[in-house]
Amino acid sequence: MGPAMRILAIETSCDETAAAVIEDGRRILSNVVASQIDLHARYGGVFPEMASRAHIEAIVPVIREALVKAHVGWRDLHAVAVTRGPGLAGSLLVGVNAAKGIALGRDLPLLGINHLEGHIYAHWLETESEGAADPDALEFPLLCLIVSGGHTELVLMQDHGRYQRLGGTRDDAAGEAFDKVGRLLGLPYPGGPAIERVAQKGDPARLRFPRAWLEGSWDFSFSGLKTAVLRVVRGYGEAGPDGRPPRQAPIPHLAAAFQEAVVDVLAEKTVQAAAAYQAKAILLAGGVSANRRLREEVKSRAGDIPVYYPPIFLCTDNAAMIGAAAYYRFQAGQRDGWEMDVVPNLRLV
Ligand SMILES: Nc1ncnc2c1ncn2[C@@H]1O[C@H](COP(=O)(O)OP(=O)(O)OP(=O)(O)O)[C@@H](O)[C@H]1O
Ligand SMILES: [Mg+2]
Repeated sequence: MGPAMRILAIETSCDETAAAVIEDGRRILSNVVASQIDLHARYGGVFPEMASRAHIEAIVPVIREALVKAHVGWRDLHAVAVTRGPGLAGSLLVGVNAAKGIALGRDLPLLGINHLEGHIYAHWLETESEGAADPDALEFPLLCLIVSGGHTELVLMQDHGRYQRLGGTRDDAAGEAFDKVGRLLGLPYPGGPAIERVAQKGDPARLRFPRAWLEGSWDFSFSGLKTAVLRVVRGYGEAGPDGRPPRQAPIPHLAAAFQEAVVDVLAEKTVQAAAAYQAKAILLAGGVSANRRLREEVKSRAGDIPVYYPPIFLCTDNAAMIGAAAYYRFQAGQRDGWEMDVVPNLRLV
């Protein structure tokens, strides 16, 4: 083994300003995340203009803190990696320009990374977390379910950096459905964790929402489910003055039944795809993979196929995962030039 290889990774694709230092692609020396949740919670969603301004304010202190926490100086770094897409253009630009400045100033290689590949590579980071993969033991092909605020994709990973897209959502992403239904139920933003919390007090069998199976494809659809929840909520009476659900609406039961409907379809299709493509393991990735019901349900249906999920802090947006993905891209020879630009709708495949 050669000397340690350290990557400074930067992530600003949405509403978290994040920087991390990753050693040899897997050791997290630091992982700093400045969340704008409080800022956007007041409006029930992310405001792009406000998000990019908040990144501008946070980016330098966050990068500094990542270096201090990792106990490294500029000269200990070997590359700079940054999310170039998908995400909000104005947010991505802040990270990409910071990374270019550092790469230029320190004469370091620059790597633009796909945010979704980052979510997958959270599995190659060393953690002691229950349910996490041992990166050395992962064998291809792997079946990845990427479920986040903006994406819901089933991807077969054939090797490092080699992906086959099996299917994805035809309308709302799973996380988007959680966020919209959260708002509908009068829960705080982001809806995912709020629904999971409230659902624990509910009975998932009290109500039943429809599932869009889309037989014969690996695709998903969640917009009908959202409409179904809206219709049932309206059935309990008039909405309150601030759009709050009617007082009679049984929020915990509604949350539990909604969560069950999402988890049922995600778990079933993931497990079926893993079997169909003889995947060696299932990797859950993205913010929604923080959901405990989803984790449990995929595991209980997967039989002999191992199921892995990263610790919660590596499921939602962070820069450590970008550093892990960048390590494999660096090994494969990727180096980006100064023309490297943000790609808001960048695809994995
Ligand atoms: N415990 C949970 N249960 C369900 N959903 C959750 C949970 N925790 C977070 N989420 C959802 O995850 C999403 C945020 O995930 P993530 O940070 O990966 O998304 P994003 O970066 O906004 O989108 P993308 O990665 O597609 O660009 C939100 O929609 C949030 O509601
Ligand atoms: Mg994300």
